[in-house]
Amino acid sequence: MTDTLTIRRPDDFHLHLRDGAILDAVATGSLDFARAIIMPNLVPPVVNAAMVSAYRDRILAAVTAGAPDALFEPLMTLYLTDETTPETIDEVAGVCTAAKLYPAHATTNSASGVNDVAALTPVLERMAERGLVLCIHGEVTDHEVDIFDREAVFLERVLAPLRARVPDLKIVLEHLSTRAAIDFVRGTEGMAGTITAHHLVIDRNDLLAGGIRPHNYCLPIVKRREDREALVAAATGDDPSFFFGSDSAPHTDPRKLGPCGAAGCFTAPVALAILAHLFEAVGALDKLEAFVSDQGAAFYGLAPNPDTVTLTRGAPVPLDPIVTADGPVTLFNPGFDITWRVEGSPALPGR
Ligand code: NCD
Ligand code: ZN
Repeated sequence: MTDTLTIRRPDDFHLHLRDGAILDAVATGSLDFARAIIMPNLVPPVVNAAMVSAYRDRILAAVTAGAPDALFEPLMTLYLTDETTPETIDEVAGVCTAAKLYPAHATTNSASGVNDVAALTPVLERMAERGLVLCIHGEVTDHEVDIFDREAVFLERVLAPLRARVPDLKIVLEHLSTRAAIDFVRGTEGMAGTITAHHLVIDRNDLLAGGIRPHNYCLPIVKRREDREALVAAATGDDPSFFFGSDSAPHTDPRKLGPCGAAGCFTAPVALAILAHLFEAVGALDKLEAFVSDQGAAFYGLAPNPDTVTLTRGAPVPLDPIVTADGPVTLFNPGFDITWRVEGSPALPGR
């Protein structure tokens, strides 16, 4: 059994850092990662170049306040709305790496998202010209469609036609949750998919069987065991189209535990340790670096990180909630002891 593992420093290709008190409390939680694609679903959403730049500055200020010597590069995204124009893309091209498509009302803070994806074609064409990546929350919002089917229906109804309309656009289907999505990404040119740590280690039984566990509730909702197995096979396999995006999405406990609890799992500080545990459990620890450190950067056209992180095995990491001025934020519990930790990590201070 290996007790130490050194890999190229990883990146997180899907991260929610929020704003204000939560941003201040969680910013250092992502410092195992060199870079992260930052989600723009704030209130109000990040819809223009000035908002992107201001949000980037607030993130860097929060990181520096918590860990003055840390190196972290937020890779910013634009929130697409029905009002986004090709000129908006020109304006953000220097500050954004990607733009995010939320179908309106699909998830947290997506009310300003896109109602008519076909009408967005000129914007997407401009993104392709400018080399911006399109990140997609791939679920239909048609409430006639069962919540467990919303990703699979999105693939045929929205994504396949979009792919055909703008063939040169690099597309990332975010937080894959089904075998159908894995198969779609595998079979489609110019596409990649991110996979979260939580979708790799829990299924819907961990959400609903033997009592409801609100901290395991996220969108896309966790699916069947067979889907989880397909995700694990993709994450640990040889297809470079699959790479890590945590979708770490902190909400305070009052927001998670009320009568209509918010979707999102807060995983960032423990994500790498959870992945190491899982990859080891399936005999694929040698594939971890490709999944978290190599394949995402390659798809995005970014240089590989020059530095490394070292994970060591030790006593279980305590999962106490993070204290914020808005209330406690509970860390995701994978259902097993987290025994890997990143040496010298500022992500889990005092643990
Ligand atoms: C995310 C959030 O809370 O912002 N929630 C989630 O369940 N993943 C939004 C998202 O990525 O869907
Ligand atoms: Zn997300």
